[in-house]
Amino acid sequence: MPQVIARLRDFATALSRGVTLPDGRSAFLVCVHGRITAFVNRCPHQRVPLNVPEGEFLDAGGELIQCGMHGALFLPETGECVFGPCLGRYLEPLAISIDAEGNVILAVE
Ligand code: FES
Repeated sequence: MPQVIARLRDFATALSRGVTLPDGRSAFLVCVHGRITAFVNRCPHQRVPLNVPEGEFLDAGGELIQCGMHGALFLPETGECVFGPCLGRYLEPLAISIDAEGNVILAVE
């Protein structure tokens, strides 16, 4: 059954958002240049949540995903680390779609 994990309107006031998946995992969505992507909230460096200690998922420019622990930066399109201790590794992406009502839906795996 499709699972709504966010709504488009959520991104009118914030460009990133943490969510809990139906299976209990922590995840997050970012909206960069109008495109929404989603990933499991676990840094490939030390397997910790990215949004510690500040609670943010994006860097100050709002263009790259950032891990708050050691500052790794990731492309929002693919989750590839482009700077930091896990260079070349990837965040775990989540397949999502957006329906006509603006619901962000987690694809069934
Ligand atoms: S735990 Fe994310 S950069 Fe080290």
